[in-house]
Amino acid sequence: MLADRIKSIPSSPTLSITAKAKAMKAAGIDVASLAAGEPDFDTPEHIKEAAIKAVKEGFTKYTPVGGILELKEAVINFMELEYGLKYDPEEVLVACGGKQALYNLFQVILNPGDGVIIPAPYWVSYPPMVLLAGGKPVIVQTDEKDGFKLKPETLKSHLSPWTKAIIINSPSNPTGSVYTKKDLEALAEVLAGKNIWIISDDVYHKIILKDEVCWASIATVSPEIKEKTLIVNAVSKTYSMTGWRIGFLIGNKEIIKAATKLQSQSTSNPSSIAQKAAVAALNGPQDFLTTWVDVFKKRAQRLLGLLKEVPGVSCFEPEGAFYAFPCMKKYFNGDSLKLAEYLLEEAKVAVVPGIAFGQDGFVRLSFATSLATIEEALKRMKTFLEMLT
Ligand SMILES: Cc1ncc(COP(=O)(O)O)c(C=O)c1O
Repeated sequence: MLADRIKSIPSSPTLSITAKAKAMKAAGIDVASLAAGEPDFDTPEHIKEAAIKAVKEGFTKYTPVGGILELKEAVINFMELEYGLKYDPEEVLVACGGKQALYNLFQVILNPGDGVIIPAPYWVSYPPMVLLAGGKPVIVQTDEKDGFKLKPETLKSHLSPWTKAIIINSPSNPTGSVYTKKDLEALAEVLAGKNIWIISDDVYHKIILKDEVCWASIATVSPEIKEKTLIVNAVSKTYSMTGWRIGFLIGNKEIIKAATKLQSQSTSNPSSIAQKAAVAALNGPQDFLTTWVDVFKKRAQRLLGLLKEVPGVSCFEPEGAFYAFPCMKKYFNGDSLKLAEYLLEEAKVAVVPGIAFGQDGFVRLSFATSLATIEEALKRMKTFLEMLT
């Protein structure tokens, strides 16, 4: 009945857990959830006001498929401020979230059998998106002891004549790992002179949790690398606008033109109202971000402190984003799905199993939730796991 295309992608192992957690909550069961993938802050008032103004002024019709010029110019300004890089409007596509930017990108660059190097742990949607575009996900495991970062020699050993692209996601969902400029220079050295696209997924780039960590984009390494890099960013995580669905693809003109053509035959423009809100987000005050990041820093420290009290658990200290990715191999022989199921059913704590991100034995804990929820979840987790030891 169904097309092979849809059969080629696995159903998400996280779905059953998330669905179960939701059903439990709906049934009145008090679940402490550390499963959130979005900031728990409200979208700032000036952004909401811009959307209301757009509606009242009748800005409610189709816009150019790739986004209004005002927003593209705001993105260009943002790229100059945040990355120190110059782009033209023809090098920017506005899409329905970072997700559609990535989806369009894979559709327009991949031919059947083209390989995409995906360092694991990875964001859950990369492999299915590559598969749906006819490509081949080449999963390359990274190690906790290397800060979950891909090493240049490992990258080199996985390159093949079919390698079409590589994904770098920094800060990472799910590990919170951040590549330094030096790390990126070393990877760029391996990729220099090769016909390989570099996809830089920077949707968490404003959420840096350690003062000594300085975020950098691989596109800034050299003009040659900038030419090969397609940047994906969004207002979703930075401005707490996940529901507004505005993301960007920035880079090579031909690719942007092709991705715009694809978008013209699928969703057309992203919501006109959300585009106006995104202009306000990018051009408006940015000071609230410092407050939000401080809140994330405090929660991260509390979570890591409490995790130390849980037997048999070690955790890489996240440098960015709002996730911790502790190693819990000791439990259920490293079967993270089983562990997540037990934590939900017995301890009433919702976490996302590491297997969903391509690395078993770990779980993802989100601290995009209140300190009270973090404390309660960790208390329950500790009590439950102590019974198992
Ligand atoms: C690493 C990463 N990239 C991209 C996205 C997509 O973000 P958006 O909500 O803008 O589509 C997410 C969302 O969870 C993410 O975690």
